[in-house]
Amino acid sequence: MTIAFTPADTASLAQTEGTLVVLVGSDGALSGAGGAADAAMGGALKRAIASPRFKGKHGEAMEFPFPAGMKADRLIIASTGKDPLDATTARHLGGKIAAKMGKLETPGATVHADGLDAALTAELAAGMKMRRYAFNRYKTGKDADTLGKGSITVATADTDAAKAAFTDADALAEGTFFTRDLVSEPANVLYPESFAARLEALSELGVEVTVMREKELEEIGMGSLLCVGLGSPHESTVVVMKWMGGAEGDAPFCAVGKGVTFDTGGISIKPAGGMEEMTMDMGGAGVVSGLMKTVALRKAKANVIGIVGLVENMPDGLATRPGDIVTSLSGKTIEVINTDAEGRLVLADILFYAQREFKPAATVNLATLTGAIIIALGNTNAGLFCNNDDFATQIADAADAESEGIWRMPLAKEYDDLIKSSLADIKNTGGRAAGSITAAQFLQRFVNDSPWAHIDIAGVTLSKEAKPLHGKGASGWGVATLNRLVRDNFEK
Ligand code: BES
Ligand code: MN
Ligand code: ZN
Repeated sequence: MTIAFTPADTASLAQTEGTLVVLVGSDGALSGAGGAADAAMGGALKRAIASPRFKGKHGEAMEFPFPAGMKADRLIIASTGKDPLDATTARHLGGKIAAKMGKLETPGATVHADGLDAALTAELAAGMKMRRYAFNRYKTGKDADTLGKGSITVATADTDAAKAAFTDADALAEGTFFTRDLVSEPANVLYPESFAARLEALSELGVEVTVMREKELEEIGMGSLLCVGLGSPHESTVVVMKWMGGAEGDAPFCAVGKGVTFDTGGISIKPAGGMEEMTMDMGGAGVVSGLMKTVALRKAKANVIGIVGLVENMPDGLATRPGDIVTSLSGKTIEVINTDAEGRLVLADILFYAQREFKPAATVNLATLTGAIIIALGNTNAGLFCNNDDFATQIADAADAESEGIWRMPLAKEYDDLIKSSLADIKNTGGRAAGSITAAQFLQRFVNDSPWAHIDIAGVTLSKEAKPLHGKGASGWGVATLNRLVRDNFEK
């Protein structure tokens, strides 16, 4: 499937085949193309818009099958809503239109974006693309193309400007697809080594990719991260991805991701019900990977470093036991109370590594860290923990602008009492109370005072329902927020 831009031409409207989409503006009036279609259809569209059945809400769409006077199979009117469009609402409008279009047949669809400027047109196109994503790789007989059959043509006044603006919006769509693919893959296909191989492919885009395998991680001293993978035949792996598009010597923005390719819980094994969902426990690493792909594709003028810790948490004769004490890269010792609290063990070492090696201007880590964050915030918001109010505001603003839900949670030293160990420097669980907060407190013990945020994405990585920009399944939550965070705060 492709998305192409073509000059707006209302003269040939009645001759267009396939699906036709025209817009209803915030004033409730049809666009120029819509007016032409209405004229060809004997005023049917204006009657529909005037009827109480059409409220004119953002993304509201109505379908007219085999419209009289037109060659099209169907015509869809779609409302931009009462408020003027911005980049995000234009993208969402595209997503809602794509949902209304559903499966396309050849020759596909023509969407008339007259009335929108080039930037909004590009966002509309990107939104359609984002919503059409489907992970069909393991359904035999289905179209292998994630975007399905039929191409989409966007008719616009200035095709060159729209195409140019589409480059950045499309970078985000492609980056988000990379995340969704990684999250959707089963754990027999995506394990630490194969995950690392997919990241190595980013070097084609100019990302400098370094893969560290077990021997090297042992030499470096990542005893905390390594203890998680001891029960797995797969080699724990840390991948560093550098996109240095900014000024030389400028401190980088660092994104760090939990990449547990499957989480059985280890010796503290999880119950069978729903365990198959734990193929998504690499969601944090997935978002970091998608961010790196996005900034590379749009050639961001920023220094961005992504680090992912890739491990598989399995029970085995060699696996870490509850009660084991490990030494982290920082030198701090950790008593492993519960082997199912493995994400923080992975992050402890790569967060410390990131700050020691790269002296970042700011660090964000993303992780499907706790079930407790789903108890607290459901599937609507990710949990944000941050040691710096200004940085927290930057993140929340970026998420708001992208319509990705996020909610700040507290950090406070009082919670540290819950993770005191009698034998080691710290223990890896603090009991049921404040489960997401004690996990964040644990992470904070491995970072310095520079701006740092932990985003717990356990509730938002997989979506149970369709949203404007994605269907059920892997959402890609966070790629858009981090991309904007970089663009608005760490880019020239
Ligand atoms: N990967 C899980 C958290 C999770 C739960 C992610 C549900 C997505 C959906 C994490 O490793 C885990 O098992 N956390 C434990 C921590 C507990 C043992 C302190 C949890 O949340 O129960
Ligand atoms: Mn776990
Ligand atoms: Zn986990």
